[in-house]
Amino acid sequence: MEDQAEKLREIMKRKKDGTPSAKSVSSAKSNVKQAEKARIITVTSGKGGVGKTNLSVNMALAFARLGKKVIVMDADLGLANVNVMLNMIPKYNLYHVIKKQKTIREILVETEYGISIVAGASGFSQIANMGEEDRKDFISELDTLSNADIVIIDTSAGVSSNVLDFIAAADDAVIITTPEPTAITDAYGIIKIIATEYDSLNMGLKLVVNRAKGAAQAKSVADRMINIAGQFLNLKVDYLGFIYDDASVQHAVLRQKPFMVVDPKCKASICVQHIVERIDRNKIGESAGFGAMLKRLFRSSQYEASEV
Ligand SMILES: Nc1ncnc2c1ncn2[C@@H]1O[C@H](COP(=O)(O)OP(=O)(O)O)[C@@H](O)[C@H]1O
Ligand SMILES: [Mg+2]
Repeated sequence: MEDQAEKLREIMKRKKDGTPSAKSVSSAKSNVKQAEKARIITVTSGKGGVGKTNLSVNMALAFARLGKKVIVMDADLGLANVNVMLNMIPKYNLYHVIKKQKTIREILVETEYGISIVAGASGFSQIANMGEEDRKDFISELDTLSNADIVIIDTSAGVSSNVLDFIAAADDAVIITTPEPTAITDAYGIIKIIATEYDSLNMGLKLVVNRAKGAAQAKSVADRMINIAGQFLNLKVDYLGFIYDDASVQHAVLRQKPFMVVDPKCKASICVQHIVERIDRNKIGESAGFGAMLKRLFRSSQYEASEV
């Protein structure tokens, strides 16, 4: 009782003093929340083994060095790539979140490199089979990661509906390829699917050419892909940069450490740094974060439904 009276007195006092009302306090809070929204970056390829996990983890480190709070989420099907690359064996993973046994906060693991990871699970494929309610619950669970500055999602290669959902909801969708013809063809394949599935969503695709001999080779691969995407899909793809084919990468992978840590001055590290600086310079709009992702996913499923 006394509490109630105390609260009332407090409210009356505030009104008199002209201190901010509950309403303006809550709108100030929502402004703060807006600022808390994480930038979501997906890393995808058409073909496996082209460097998604290396790029995800090392980009995370480069962002951390810029003072950002970064989370890497392993959304690759079955292959617990990110942990292996960092020599970690997390006890819980996304499977436990999907099964509602753990919250995402409970499975988040800090690494010794100043980034956190969300471990993947083979059960991840179940997202595609989730009912509407479970799916929404899962995405709201992901929303709790929004207080990070950057969330990098290492997806599986190729197309599955959950990969597409993540890509469609991302602020930056990075497609990575190597100069190999098969990798280029498969990368183009996934760009085409993204373009046809999600033409209602105005998202920017960004291309990285990995394992290039040099800037000229990478640029010619990128130009070809960007021209074809523009011409045949009417889709704008930006060239984000390239990474040298560099033996330091393999050495680091064998040591189960990021190459940015093992050899911060190697060619691959410098390239990743440039890529991250380019992303960082390109500021994103207001609709960042998993909350926005939820809205976008909802919108896209409505869109699909109205198409049928
Ligand atoms: N820039 C690079 N230079 C040399 N080797 C690389 C480079 N990027 C990737 N690799 C090699 O390719 C392998 C696969 O990379 P990974 O990041 O695991 O690919 P993905 O996640 O796409 O399957 C690495 O273990 C490494 O041996
Ligand atoms: Mg991988």
